Amino acid sequence: MPVSRDWYRKRPLTVQPPPGRGLDGSDQRMFVTVLLLLVALSARGGHSEETEEAQRPGHVSVIIVGATGDLAKKYLWQGFFQLYVNQVSSGNTFFFHGGGLSPADKGTPVLFEALKAVSCSKDVSQERCAVLKDQFLRLSQYRQLKTLEDYQELAKHIEQQLQEEGMTEAGRLFYLSVPAFAYADIAEKINSSCRPTSGAWLRVVLEKPFGHDFRSAQLLASHLGNSLKDEEMYRIDHYLGKQVVSKILPFRIENREFLDPIWNKHYIERIEIVVKETLDVTGRIPFYDQYGVIRDVLQNHLTEVMTLLTMKLPKNVSSSEEVLQNKLEIFSSLLPLAKNQAVIGQYQAYKSEVQQELNKTKDHVSLTPTFAAVLAHIDETQYEGVPILLTSGKMLDERVGYARILFKNDMFCLQRHNGIHCKPKQIVFYFGHGDLQYPAILVSKNLFKPALIDSDWKEVTEHTDVSVLGLSISDYYVQTPTEQREAYAELISHIFAGCKNSFISTENLLASWSLWTPLLSSLASSFPRIYPGGVDNGGLLDVRLKGRDISYNSEVVIITPDQMGGTSANDFQVMQGKFRSADMVSAWAEELVERLAVDIQEAAEAAVRESGVFHLALSGGSTPLALFHRLVLHHFSFPWRDTHVWMVDERCVPLTELESNFHSMHDHLLQHVRIPYYNIHPMPVQLNQRLCVEEDRGALQYEKELSKWVNGSSLHFVLLGVGYDGHTASLFPGSKVSEHGESLVALTESPIKPHQRMSLTFNAINRAHRVALLVMGKGKHELITQLSRVKDNLDKYPVTGVKPDHGTLVWYIDYDALLG
Ligand code: BG6
Repeated sequence: MPVSRDWYRKRPLTVQPPPGRGLDGSDQRMFVTVLLLLVALSARGGHSEETEEAQRPGHVSVIIVGATGDLAKKYLWQGFFQLYVNQVSSGNTFFFHGGGLSPADKGTPVLFEALKAVSCSKDVSQERCAVLKDQFLRLSQYRQLKTLEDYQELAKHIEQQLQEEGMTEAGRLFYLSVPAFAYADIAEKINSSCRPTSGAWLRVVLEKPFGHDFRSAQLLASHLGNSLKDEEMYRIDHYLGKQVVSKILPFRIENREFLDPIWNKHYIERIEIVVKETLDVTGRIPFYDQYGVIRDVLQNHLTEVMTLLTMKLPKNVSSSEEVLQNKLEIFSSLLPLAKNQAVIGQYQAYKSEVQQELNKTKDHVSLTPTFAAVLAHIDETQYEGVPILLTSGKMLDERVGYARILFKNDMFCLQRHNGIHCKPKQIVFYFGHGDLQYPAILVSKNLFKPALIDSDWKEVTEHTDVSVLGLSISDYYVQTPTEQREAYAELISHIFAGCKNSFISTENLLASWSLWTPLLSSLASSFPRIYPGGVDNGGLLDVRLKGRDISYNSEVVIITPDQMGGTSANDFQVMQGKFRSADMVSAWAEELVERLAVDIQEAAEAAVRESGVFHLALSGGSTPLALFHRLVLHHFSFPWRDTHVWMVDERCVPLTELESNFHSMHDHLLQHVRIPYYNIHPMPVQLNQRLCVEEDRGALQYEKELSKWVNGSSLHFVLLGVGYDGHTASLFPGSKVSEHGESLVALTESPIKPHQRMSLTFNAINRAHRVALLVMGKGKHELITQLSRVKDNLDKYPVTGVKPDHGTLVWYIDYDALLG
C-alpha cells in the first residue's frame, strides 16, 4: 500500500524515545534510524525541490513579526530590501508589514529608522538606489501584532489590498523574529486567521533556539505541527546561508574525481570545524546562560557543517529529500557523544556578568560553558577513526570561522626551504573574518587544482602576504565569491524561491538534538575551565585528541565547586578576629587559601599600581603548596609579569634536589605562571661548587640583591609558616637571632636535616609592608594553643619575633589548627 505524504508528515513528531527515561547514546542512534526510514518512505515518488508556486507571479505579503528588534534592524530589513530589488521586474508585487507588540504610534518611527538604513549593492547607481528605497519605504508599514484580532485585521488588510489592486495572491511570508516561547501562539494565530486562500503559499520562518534539548525541541515541533505543515516551516540556521557553507556540497560534487579517492580514513588525518569569537556575551546573558556555546553554536551551525562535509553525495543536490536522507544517514552513524568527548570552558568575567545581568548575589555560580571542544567520530568504514573536532567559544584570541580537512602527509623533507609537497595538505572552507577577511575555499597546491564551483565565484591569484592555518596563501588554490553577500539576504531569497535545502527540517532538528542531548545531560554539573579571555588564554584551551577522547592539554587547572565560589553560603564562612594582638582570618582550609590568595593578589595589584612592581617572598615546606595551586589556577589574572619572587629561606642542597625549597616552588608554582625569569630570585646556597660556606658570602650576596631591587629592602608581602617547634622561616628555637645584627639574610642551623639553611632574618621580615603567617592542619592545634598564651619568646618560639615595624601582620589559621 503506498504511503501518503500526509501520513508521513505527522509521523516524525510522534516518534518517542523509550518511555520513562531520557535519550541516551543507543536511543540516539535508534531514533535517527527510525527517522531515516520515514524520510525514505516519504521521498518515494521523487517530489522535486523547487515548488512551482514559487514561480507563479502575483502579490506577496511579507510580515516580519518582531520588526523593530535587533535581528530585524541588523539583517532582516536589508535582506528583504535586497529581495525587493531583485524582484522588481519579476512581475511580483510586494507589501511589507512590520509587526510588533507596541502600538503603531510607538512602532512606526522605530521601523522608519530601520528602513532608512537599508542600502543597495555596488552595481546600483545612486539615483536608482534612491528610487528603490523610496518605493520600499512606501510599501512598508508598521502594525501592532499582539492579539488574535490584530492578526484578523492583518488578514483583512491583505484581502482588501488584493481586491483594490485586482491582484492575484502569490503567497504570505511570515518571519518570526521573536523569542521561541511565542512561536506556538503566533503560529496558531496565523493558522486560524491569516492563511491565504486560492492556492497561494504560506511560509513561516523561525529563528533558533528550537528547543534546548531533544524533548523540548520535540514538544515545540509538535505544537507548531498543530498549526503549520512541515513544508510551510522554514527554520533558519544562518550558517547555511553563508556563501562558503552553501558551496560545500557543490564543491564536493564538482571535484569528485579528485576527492573520491582521498575522502576517507586512509587519507584524512582529521576534520576541524571551528568558530572562534572575540566578543563576550554581555547583553545576551538572560538567553545565553540558559543555552551556552554547545546549544548556541555546536548543536546547529557546526553540526550542519559537519553533515555537509561527511554525508554521502546526493545525486541531485537540489532535492531536499535526498539531501535530508543523506544527512540523517550521517546522524545515524555518528557515535554517541559522552563526557570524555568534550571539554568546556568559561571566560573569567562571565561569572560577574551573570551576577550583574541576572541580579544574582556574589556567590552565584554559573556552569554555562562559553567555550567547548567536542570530538565526534563516524561509525562507518569510510571514516573509521577519523577525528572530527567541533569547537567554538567566546572571548578567544581571534574572530574566525572555518572547516578544515587535514590530510595525512607521509613526506619527510630534509632541506630547510622545502617544496610544497612537504607542507600541510588541506582543504579549508573559510567562512570569513580572520586574517583572510573574505570567504573562500582553499585547496593546498599539493592536493589538486579544483574546478571553479560557480560562475559567481572567481579564482584569487594575487595575494597579500597572509597565511591561513599554517600555510602561506600562495600555497593554495583560492576561490571566492565575486560579490560577498550576507547570509540572511541569501536565505531570504531561498525562502522566497521555496528552496528548502537551506533550512532545518523537523527530522534534521530532532536528529541533531538526539546527538547532543546525552552529552549536554552528562555535562550538566561539570565545571568549565576558567579562561582569562583574548590572547591571555595562551595554551589554556589547547586540546589533545587521544583515540576517541579529548582533554585539555595543560593539566594545571582543575576547577572544584569551592574554587568556583562554593554552592552554599555555609561553605563559605570566613571568620575574622585577633590572634596574639594581630589580625587573624580563619576558615576551612580551602576558603582560607582562597582568602589568602585574594589578599596577596590585592596587595600585588596595589603595589603594581603604586610602584610598577610587586616583591613577594615565599616560604618553603608543604603548607604553602595549596596556596601555590590556587595561584596557578588563577594565574592569568595575577600581575606575574611585574612580580618579583624572593625566597624566605632555603635548605643548603643543590636547587635541583627535591628537598630544595626552590625546586618545590618551581614545580608547584613558577613553571605554571608567566613570570619573567629575571624576576625570580633563588637563594645562592651553592657557590664555588660548595653549599652554604660562610666565606662564599652567599647570604651577603642575597642581601645585596635584595637591597638593589627592593626599595628600602621592604618587601611588599612575606608569606611565612610556623613549624611544630615554633620556628618560622629558617629561624629555629635556640638560634641566636640577636647575632644577626643588621643583616637581612643569614646562614642558620636547623635541628632537622638538612641542617644548614639560609634565611631572611627578622630585620628583613619585619621591614615588610605585609606579613602573612599561614598555619594549617590539626597537627598545629597544640602549637596554636600555646602561642595564644605565651608572651614573646624569641628563643623558644621564634615566630613570636614576627612584628612588622611599620607593616601589618595577619595570621591565617584554618579551623583544624585553631579548633583542633
Ligand atoms: C549565532 C549565535 O547563532 O551565531 C551567536 O547565537 C554567534 O552567539 C553567531 O555569535 C556566530 O555567527 P557568525 O555568523 O557571526 O559567525
